[in-house]
Amino acid sequence: MDWGIKNRLSRIIRPDTGRTVMLAVDHGYFQGPTTGLESPRKTITPLIPYADCLMLTRGVLRTSVDASCDVPIVLRVSGGTSILKELSNEGITTSIEEAIRLNAAGMALSIFVGSEYERQTLLNLSRLVNMGERYGIPVLAVTAVGREMTRDARYLALACRIAAELGAHLVKTYYCEGFQEVVGGCPVPVVIAGGKKLPERDALQLAYDAVHAGAVGVDMGRNIFQSDSPVAMIRAVRSIVHEDATVDKAYDLYCKAKDKADKKAST
Ligand code: R5P
Repeated sequence: MDWGIKNRLSRIIRPDTGRTVMLAVDHGYFQGPTTGLESPRKTITPLIPYADCLMLTRGVLRTSVDASCDVPIVLRVSGGTSILKELSNEGITTSIEEAIRLNAAGMALSIFVGSEYERQTLLNLSRLVNMGERYGIPVLAVTAVGREMTRDARYLALACRIAAELGAHLVKTYYCEGFQEVVGGCPVPVVIAGGKKLPERDALQLAYDAVHAGAVGVDMGRNIFQSDSPVAMIRAVRSIVHEDATVDKAYDLYCKAKDKADKKAST
């Protein structure tokens, strides 16, 4: 692997733990002002100190993150559809030159295996990997799941393996029963999305199960920024990912940090 790609990957996945807590705040690119992300700067700023990297679009990066901030960026570079249309009909939205100008540590793009525009999204990924390889920028493939697909190990293993075969350097997918099969069949590191908001303890259990089944961490959004206490939640997720905390210990950390923040807010 090229030195530049390795170097950028080591900014995304912490070399000392081999794991990462990525904060996904790119939801607006197809669903508009998502709950909890209506004002991106307000949501993102307090979470930055606890995120190993941010996953977001160039629009939110430019408007809502200070350029002096040294958190690594994984730039969402696919899109072109909205929740009102066929979601799989994505293209590449952002040039490689723009990713370089924005000092991205990586680029992210969705693939929709089994959906109407499967071929187009897989060719998008291949093109992006070709460009990334040229300039030393790793590519994160997101295995988006169409409404008609089942999020089981068989399907997710298929999607993750295809992403890796086409050259993705890192894959983001969903946790499922039998997740070892998904990770085992994917020769590049895997991170999980959190999915829809769950009670905090359940989301921590999800992160725990994923890393214990071989994921290198999480690229979590709604389960952090829609939490009653987002900072407490990301700190609890970090304790699982980087410190191998148990779910009980992480949940305890969440409750204590939340109480402290609530008290501070009421004084
Ligand atoms: C999906 O295509 C986007 O990358 C989402 O923004 C991300 O996967 C969602 O993260 P979460 O499911 O944890 O909110």
